[in-house]
Formats: sequence, structure tokens, C-alpha cells
Amino acid sequence: MSRKHIIIGNWKMYKNMEDTKIFLNQFSKLIKGKVIKCDYGIAASYTNLPVLKLNQFHNLIIAAQNCHYEPEGAFTGEVSIKMLKDINVSHVVIGHSERRMYFTETNEAINKKLHALFNANMIPVLCCGESDSEYEAKKTNDIIKNQILLALAGIKSQHVTKLIIAYEPIWAIGTGKTASAVEAQTVCKMIRDYITELYDENTAQKVRIQYGGSVKPENIKSFLEQPDIDGALVGGASLQAESFLGLLV
Ligand code: PGA
Repeated sequence: MSRKHIIIGNWKMYKNMEDTKIFLNQFSKLIKGKVIKCDYGIAASYTNLPVLKLNQFHNLIIAAQNCHYEPEGAFTGEVSIKMLKDINVSHVVIGHSERRMYFTETNEAINKKLHALFNANMIPVLCCGESDSEYEAKKTNDIIKNQILLALAGIKSQHVTKLIIAYEPIWAIGTGKTASAVEAQTVCKMIRDYITELYDENTAQKVRIQYGGSVKPENIKSFLEQPDIDGALVGGASLQAESFLGLLV
């Protein structure tokens, strides 16, 4: 089964509106005349999403970095899925390790967000990954299976086929350390096998699985060559237009 690669830049809490306009301007110039075969997008802060919507030059997927699962209500500081849809957001990163770590995002909340997003016809990019100590203790498979099992509770296979999973070992995020391509492939295959176990082979073959953690233009090819890696979620190397374009191989 051939799955189209998808590269998503995760801008985290970087860039203001002016920076975003400058990026788009540079990126539009750089991408002109180039044939890009993969899907690609940027997950930006809420305040930058309307600026990304203004870009008319390319097929940029606009992604948010979080959302609330309730349609509306007294949730000060939160953003609803409808608010995101209004400004052309189609994908939402869910359960990034920084949100799990610093904002106590639980697997239960992640599961509710997945249900709400699929019900709204949006695509979640579900992040999973093990910490340094879990990696050292060889607990990677158990940790990730548990994250996936809890995130997907009650989600139907017709929705799972649209899901994007980002495998991001926490020890590789922003550290310059990467999993080797073979190591990343092993975990991504384990994830696909687990989806087969939970659903079926056909569903598992449709899920796109990204690797994330210190991916750069210089190393992205080695990951994308792997049969079960269908793209990348990229932080640092997505912030500059030239470097972002270098990821769209
Ligand atoms: P990094 O971040 O590419 O800077 O390691 C990846 C991520 O957090 O999604």
C-alpha cells in the first residue's frame, strides 16, 4: 500500500504575525516552479493561523497545536474545534509530549479530543513517544501501545484510516539526538502492527505514521526511505522557509 508522505512543521510557541508573513513570503518565492510530491503543513500558534489562511500560493495544510473537546463553554483560555474550522484549520496536533509534560494532558483528554475531531471531520495528528528513562529501560513498546490503546478507545476504524500518528521519542525532541532510521522504523512498524491487532490489516495500512525528533533536511531522507515511516513532524528545522522547503523531499 502506498501512502502519501506528510511533513508537518511544528512551530510551537515561536513566531508572531509579522514573522509568519515573512516566512510565507520567502516560502512562496522558494517553492515557485518546484514539484512537491508530499503533503505538507504547519502547526502554528492560534494567533498565526489566520495569517497562514491568507497564503494563496500553495497547498499548505493549516494545523493547530491543540484544541478543546467540548463544542463551547466556560473554558477560559481554550479554543474550540469550530473556531479552528472557521479559519480553515484541517489538522490538529494532539498529545504532543510537551503538552503531556507541562500541561498535564491525559490520555483520557486526548481520547475525547480525537472523538471530537473525527466527529467534526478534522484530522488529528496523534503524538506518542517514550522518555529517555523509559527508552533506557526498554519500555518503549509498552509505553506507546498504552498511549495508543487509550487514545483510540471507542474510535471507529473508518476514522482510524484517516489518522496520522507521530512517533516522537521525547529524548530526541529538540536535542539534536535522533533515533536511527532503523530504530524509528522498528517502532513505527510496531505501531502499525498494533493497529492491525486493535482493528485490522486494511485499517493499519491506511494510517500514516510520522517520525519526529531532530529531523532536518540532512537526515529526513533516511527516515522517509523506511517502509513504515510516512512523514515527519518537525520542530526546529521547520522555522526557516529554506529549511522547511528542504524537508519536502
Ligand atoms: P524538533 O521537534 O524537530 O525540534 O526535535 C519535534 C517536535 O517537537 O515535534
